[in-house]
Amino acid sequence: MTDSTPEVWTVPVSDPLASAGEPWLSGKVALVVGGGLSGPEGGIGFAIAWLCARNGAAVAILDRDPAAGRRTLDAIREAGGVAEYFPVDVTDDASVASAVSAAAERFGRFDVVADSIGGGGVQPMFDATLDQFEDAMRLNFTAVWYVMRHAQRHMDRGASMVTISSAAAEGRGPGLPYSFGKAALEKLTSGAAASLAARGIRVNCVRVGMIWGAFAARGMSEEQRVMRANNVMLQTEGNNWDIARAAFFLLTDQARWITGQTIAVDGGGFRLTNTGAAGSNLK
Ligand SMILES: NC(=O)c1ccc[n+]([C@@H]2O[C@H](COP(=O)([O-])OP(=O)(O)OC[C@H]3O[C@@H](n4cnc5c(N)ncnc54)[C@H](O)[C@@H]3O)[C@@H](O)[C@H]2O)c1
Repeated sequence: MTDSTPEVWTVPVSDPLASAGEPWLSGKVALVVGGGLSGPEGGIGFAIAWLCARNGAAVAILDRDPAAGRRTLDAIREAGGVAEYFPVDVTDDASVASAVSAAAERFGRFDVVADSIGGGGVQPMFDATLDQFEDAMRLNFTAVWYVMRHAQRHMDRGASMVTISSAAAEGRGPGLPYSFGKAALEKLTSGAAASLAARGIRVNCVRVGMIWGAFAARGMSEEQRVMRANNVMLQTEGNNWDIARAAFFLLTDQARWITGQTIAVDGGGFRLTNTGAAGSNLK
């Protein structure tokens, strides 16, 4: 930068996005489901809540764990933001209805909604019990529909939602109930986008790759971490902030013409090792 660089850039075009920047959510309200800070590794929901608060939104945190909810509230409030915690079990429709309506009553409406809750269902599909199978579908798929169904009543033109899927939805790995739940979630996301488009509400999904965070830390050894990282094109692990940044982009007007999409944030995804082109050994 030289002395002659102007302090303020005047954009010679009329689109508001051309001159827009942080804070992206001044005066707005965010609903973050699974926004509790569940452990020292942090979580995707926490990171999304943090970015929303730092960008001027008042944040409603919905989470089953009051201690995790409290940690997020304390972090946001200590930094000068506005946040409130509402207990919920997302697998129970009545609980979602009451938590969402309590949050809407407190803040009036939702401009951005993120739901990061998922997990379970990692038994091979023919070993899984009926309960395990149904629990995985409920947590990863049906529960997100509960959240969407209740939250959209408090959303209006310009608002947006983000869901959180997994690379397991796409990979041809073992048949796990978790993968089926996440695949269904991606379809749910595009269906919600089509259903809400006429009202000017956008819905997108972030498909999470091999990141290190609370979710992975609950069931992963150091050896597994190294193997996962080596299998990724960029040969590194991602973290919660890589996911939250993409989700935040999709939530704000930066992505105002994007809806119904699933974006993979996964370091390039599965890395195919070069073993030579087929036929290259032929004389
Ligand atoms: N880390 C990875 O490697 C990875 C990979 C792919 C996908 N994901 C996805 O990322 C998401 C996990 O993100 P995270 O890091 O924020 O996890 P996290 O464990 O930190 O957060 C989940 C939060 O949800 C809350 N919660 C769990 N079940 C609930 C329920 N029934 N009702 C209400 N609250 C509940 C927990 O209390 C916790 O605070 C999941 O959707 C998971 O499928 C993670």
